[in-house]
Amino acid sequence: MTWLVTGGAGYIGAHVVAALRADGAGVVVLDDLSTGLKERVPDGVDLIVGSVLDRTVLDAAIADHRVTGVIHLAGKKRVEESVARPLHYFHENVEGLRVLLTAIAEHGVGSLVFSSSAAVYGMPDVDRVTERTPCAPLSPYGLTKLIGEQLVAATAAAHPFGHVSLRYFNVAGAAGPALADRGAANLIPMVFERLSAGLPPRVFGDDYPTPDGTCVRDYIHVADLADAHVAAARRLAADPATALVVNAGRGVGVSVREIIAAVGEVVGDPGLRGVVEARRPGDPPRSVASADLIRAELGWSARLDVRAMVESAWAGWRR
Ligand code: WQD
Repeated sequence: MTWLVTGGAGYIGAHVVAALRADGAGVVVLDDLSTGLKERVPDGVDLIVGSVLDRTVLDAAIADHRVTGVIHLAGKKRVEESVARPLHYFHENVEGLRVLLTAIAEHGVGSLVFSSSAAVYGMPDVDRVTERTPCAPLSPYGLTKLIGEQLVAATAAAHPFGHVSLRYFNVAGAAGPALADRGAANLIPMVFERLSAGLPPRVFGDDYPTPDGTCVRDYIHVADLADAHVAAARRLAADPATALVVNAGRGVGVSVREIIAAVGEVVGDPGLRGVVEARRPGDPPRSVASADLIRAELGWSARLDVRAMVESAWAGWRR
């Protein structure tokens, strides 16, 4: 198969490209380089610089490279920005997907893997979130992902193609320093940013109903997440009628304080603690996946732990 990876020059996308290539698949990348970096695209992989909103570019990419499947990671992913600019998020994430689905249907592309998010669940009041937990996104970002999943399923019902939506939990780490996350928009890079400025990490609230009072998340190594895409790609190649929505997490809850302690160990400051600040609006106290369905359906489960995430992220940060 030949996979078109949209957003393949991004942090997660570049890991997906590397994992697909290691699995022997053909890959072509479409990325508008708004946040992606062309240095992340390996030699031997064609990079088409353009947007999924551009039908002309999509048609040429699919036809010229005989694309048989699409892995769609291109999109906007900052929750706060989505609150300030909801229509921009709808344009990029929903309209971008609509244009892509039109091309998929017209070219008869047989498979789609869609990047969804744990943000579809909103404030889940359960120990582990299963795919049956009701979806109630709190942000325009989460809403675009939920609508995206539904748009994929509705389109596939009318113009058959196989599809897997992966609901990413909290992605961290890097497969190598060159592939590391360059933005400091999530907890681990934000801790590094504070340490680099000579400041203590910030803890957004320590009065949550959790064991140590700080928020609990399901952190997943980006290399493991990339392998989940390969597992989805293999499943779609074997069974073109696949229609799945699955959590992509480890099923392990880790608190903000535990992450800060892990960073302290890795950077040689074992007593590292944060300064407590106000809660960040909209943060769920706990968001941890049930990873049972993805294991059963795709035969995938995560291998790497928080230590591996923090060490690899730190190596990339210091590069
Ligand atoms: C994790 C925890 C913070 C920074 C979001 C989206 C999700 C996905 C990943 C895109 C929270 C706390 C953070 C800091 C802190 N996005 N924190 N001090 O909010 O769980 O998930 O990003 O695909 O959809 O919702 O991730 O890394 O921002 O925060 O205490 O300096 O760390 O309050 O509890 P979040 P995060």
